[in-house]
Amino acid sequence: MEKYRRTKTCGELGAADAGSAQILNGWVHRKRDHGGISFINLRDRYGITQVVVDENAGAELSAVTAELRNEYCIAVSGTVRLRPDSMRNAEMATGDVELVAKTIVILNRCGPLPFQIEEETGAKDELRLKYRYLDLRSAAMQRRIRLRSEITFAVREWMRAQGFYEIETPTFIRSTPEGARDFLVPSRLYAGKFYALPQSPQLYKQLLMAAGFDKYFQIARCYRDEDSRGDRQPEFTQIDIEMSFVSRDDVLKMTEGLLFHVFKKCLGIELPAEFPKLSYEEAMEDYGTDKPDLRFDMKLQDFGALAAESGFEAFNTALATGGAVKALVVPGGAAYSRRQIEELEAHAKIYKARGLAWMKRSGAEAEPVLESGVAKFFAGRAAAVSAALGARAGDLILIVADGNRRVANVSLGAVRTKLGAGLGLCDPSQFRFAWIIDFPLFEFNEEEGRWEAAHHLFSYPKEQYHESMEEDPGTVKGDLYDLVLNGYELASGSIRIHDPELQKRVFRIVGLDEEEAARKFGFLTEAFGYGAPPHGGIAPGLDRLAMLMAGDSSIREVIAFPKNSFAQSPMDGSPGEVDASQLSELHLAIAAESPKDG
Ligand code: AMO
Repeated sequence: MEKYRRTKTCGELGAADAGSAQILNGWVHRKRDHGGISFINLRDRYGITQVVVDENAGAELSAVTAELRNEYCIAVSGTVRLRPDSMRNAEMATGDVELVAKTIVILNRCGPLPFQIEEETGAKDELRLKYRYLDLRSAAMQRRIRLRSEITFAVREWMRAQGFYEIETPTFIRSTPEGARDFLVPSRLYAGKFYALPQSPQLYKQLLMAAGFDKYFQIARCYRDEDSRGDRQPEFTQIDIEMSFVSRDDVLKMTEGLLFHVFKKCLGIELPAEFPKLSYEEAMEDYGTDKPDLRFDMKLQDFGALAAESGFEAFNTALATGGAVKALVVPGGAAYSRRQIEELEAHAKIYKARGLAWMKRSGAEAEPVLESGVAKFFAGRAAAVSAALGARAGDLILIVADGNRRVANVSLGAVRTKLGAGLGLCDPSQFRFAWIIDFPLFEFNEEEGRWEAAHHLFSYPKEQYHESMEEDPGTVKGDLYDLVLNGYELASGSIRIHDPELQKRVFRIVGLDEEEAARKFGFLTEAFGYGAPPHGGIAPGLDRLAMLMAGDSSIREVIAFPKNSFAQSPMDGSPGEVDASQLSELHLAIAAESPKDG
């Protein structure tokens, strides 16, 4: 190899190198033959250089050149030559020159390709994942992985500058459920015992605060056995952060500073120094979701007062049973066909809406007219309705009425989100952040008939609820916060409980008895008993951050080796079977599949 070692990369040669002898190593990106002359686009991570094999190349060089196929890995030695003016390529960094080959050595051949290496691979996802190492060769994937690397570096750079220590926490831990199912690792040494892979370093980062480290961060791998989605993987990465002696706003400010630095450094984008804050309730009322996409407006509006006078029974029933009637104005939506509106209705129904009422606004500004759908219930009230909702000629008004206010909000919110994408309002080059604050601490699990933690069990109930938390857990607000970006939950965090007694009360409310709590979390409450400081933190998802910064809509695009949507790796075949001897060492046996499962 020494003989063929590159003197430059494929992204480096320019006019100043003309006349020099150079060696390049890389992959055959494309080869074109033009009446005795061959042009090879030679590619590596750094770029593409045009290699020319001239007409007068000797027999040996011609023979090697004839053999070359796409993705052969080769070494080319030759002389750099300025291209004639008319052949210069301004779009190519190396477009002023070409390397005139003297020798070409094949370092490795490439079999028939499952797909071509294009700027962006068009192959199906499953094939891309099976041959991920080829998929990663595309310029688009190389850019994404480079961006991710730059983001990670920028995070480390900023966190260190702020005085944070990077500390690793274990990935074999005691199973301490955090909401999802654990992945378990059987112990060979202790029959019947298991480690769990951490769903996040939550307990350990709190223990690091008890240990006096004051400011900690970690680029942490997390594992959750839950259904995959575009923004979820069974293993993913968090920028995990914890700080002592802080209030909520200290954590928010630190996170804003971090993201400001990362966006500036990696994309050259200057974010606002402060992100807007919305309470959970405001977010639900205005957008019907706790992760609103703020790149477009289209707020949900309370239509209760006008609906009450409409005489439409569905509206009256919803209001009479303590629910809500919410409306959404779609600019230009009056042009929608009945079928388009039915599709929106079907979408609302996924979120439990009973129906989606609608009417179209037309007429002059001074003389508004409402047409079709439920317009007849608003006869003579077109001006009032238009003014109240801010509906203009050509707009569509969509309405959900439901006895459950949350259902009205969530279903119409889902319609809003769908419309935003459909109307092209979600420009991926825009980044609209918002903090969602004052979340409820507990949620009622209808299926299990019990309260559970809305975020996790260690978040601090706001001071004013401490006295009477047990009376009505549903009203308790926690000192917890999410950061949303373009409709995604990017980060989540909270101020933590540091008082062991308060922690025990939270355990009791979610139905963890003393014995079980001691077994599962005893080490944490015990640590709190040794002078643990007040503390809080946050964890932005690195995959989601990289996905959004890259302008993508699946985190798979920014993970080098992700799982498919069935939590499998088509490349290495994981999860796979193991030898019987491995199972027996681990004291495990596979239960026979019941015919029902099979
Ligand atoms: P939470 O569970 O909200 O909080 O996770 C924090 C952030 O991690 C990312 N994330 C995921 N990314 C990809 N795939 C997944 N399956 C996945 N699950 C979560 C999201 C999310 O906002 N211990 C707390 C944090 C804290 O309180 O400090 C926690 O893990 O971007």
